[in-house]
Amino acid sequence: MDSTLNILCIGAGYVGGPTMAVIADRCPHARVTVTDINSDRIKAWNSDNLPIYEPGLDAVVRRARGRNLFFSTDIPAGIRAADIIFVSVNTPTKTFGQGAGRASDLQYCEQTARQILACADSSKIVVEKSTFPVRTAEAIARILNSNGKGLAFQVLSNPEFLAEGSAIQDLEAPDRVLIGSEETPAGLRARRVLVDIYRAWVPADRIIESNVWSSELSKLTANAFLAQRVSSINSISAICERTDADIDEVARAVGADSRIGPKFLKAGIGFGGSCFKKDILNLVYIAESYGLMEVARYWESVVTMNEWQEARFIRNILANMFNTIAGKRIALFGFAFKADTGDTRESQAVAVAKDLLAERAHVVITDPKALEYVSTDLAGIDGVVECERDPYVAAAGAHAIALLTDWDLYRTLDYRRIFDTMAKPAYLFDGRNCLDHDALHALGFSVFPVGKRPLLNI
Ligand code: NAD
Ligand code: UGA
Repeated sequence: MDSTLNILCIGAGYVGGPTMAVIADRCPHARVTVTDINSDRIKAWNSDNLPIYEPGLDAVVRRARGRNLFFSTDIPAGIRAADIIFVSVNTPTKTFGQGAGRASDLQYCEQTARQILACADSSKIVVEKSTFPVRTAEAIARILNSNGKGLAFQVLSNPEFLAEGSAIQDLEAPDRVLIGSEETPAGLRARRVLVDIYRAWVPADRIIESNVWSSELSKLTANAFLAQRVSSINSISAICERTDADIDEVARAVGADSRIGPKFLKAGIGFGGSCFKKDILNLVYIAESYGLMEVARYWESVVTMNEWQEARFIRNILANMFNTIAGKRIALFGFAFKADTGDTRESQAVAVAKDLLAERAHVVITDPKALEYVSTDLAGIDGVVECERDPYVAAAGAHAIALLTDWDLYRTLDYRRIFDTMAKPAYLFDGRNCLDHDALHALGFSVFPVGKRPLLNI
């Protein structure tokens, strides 16, 4: 690898920050600069209080920052100095105009391409790190190569597969790294530069090379397949609840078939997070725009099943608490969309909180990392909401606990102490099936798991 390789990343979020920190850590001879238009975020990346919580991230940043990892708001200077530019901006679902509610909003991507074009004074490799609809590279290349400066840009696709909460582990030992390029001599040369960066720590047989379009489509497809598994197992959880079958036993039996496998078969309140819903809806939109309506409806049903699972969870709470929760204190254990992250984007807990507030419950939210987002996520929603860092205080006086995020912390609480302080009958709705239900039942709780027989004390 060229010892003076200058790497720039535009977008210092959940992907840009950790990804570049690991590249800088593993490629000490590259100089890596991460930029963002959000100056508060950059300030936080330069402080001891990083803007995102991710196990292991602090140590990686501490090793590389100031050595060959830099965080800056000076995007033009970064562009001028860069040999290779990763684009890691957000690609939310479009909320307006054609494709609203489905298509990806590509405005940040296009702004970035235009800024690269305006500032670049030498040819560069541009890498799509964000999740983009298939054929976005064509649009980026067209913008970049419309320059009158005689510069040539190669656009590569290198989608990120990390999951929040395990980002550092996923980046340091990835199942695979996917790199797509144009299959021309210039495209293959650019592909080689990116392969060489990853080869500093990723074994060759884990680096998959392909054309750009396969790479772009593989990312959306991977997320759709993962989300589909969660919706599939959740659909079966509803059948379990009617038949006394047990969803964990079913998942174990089904997952033991190596063709299916045990991962991503954990039933619960449904998938959350910033990517699954957005990416499946984008796939739906792409299918529709090619006139493939059956394909669109098929993938859309994965999202519909997810929404139904959350609605079912609320209906279950209501039905078992005498059809009224108005004025009842309900403690929500967890607000993040999964454990080990403070991220609440598309968290099922936000939807659950809103539905409980619509029933006029008194909602008390506790979470070790996500409480700071409660006020924005529930902005404009009427009702009584409290935030409480200490789960024991949150549960004191509550009629029910709804466990919504599978933080390890919640498995090790003293539930006898909690039971003693709650209103009776004390209900526990385990939306993640992560507690010891028999032990809780023995303490006096009425326990409602997902996809298993309830254990009643009433
Ligand atoms: P994010 O919102 O955390 O970060 C995006 C950053 O880009 C923001 O800080 C924003 O200020 C910045 N930005 C937007 N426009 C900009 C511009 N013109 N110039 C400079 N900075 C700009 O998003 P994220 O979670 O990091 O996701 C980024 C992309 O990666 C998305 O396409 C997402 O689908 C994909 N992805 C996310 C994950 C994940 O776990 N979060 C995993 C894999 C892929
Ligand atoms: C997901 C993918 O796992 C990553 O590979 C991908 O890079 C990323 O999306 C992305 O494109 O952003 P992430 O959303 O961070 O990662 O988290 P996951 O671990 O996939 O969990 C997503 C949701 O599904 C969570 O709410 C989780 O609790 C839920 N889930 C997951 C289940 O309900 N059951 C399971 O068995 C697995």
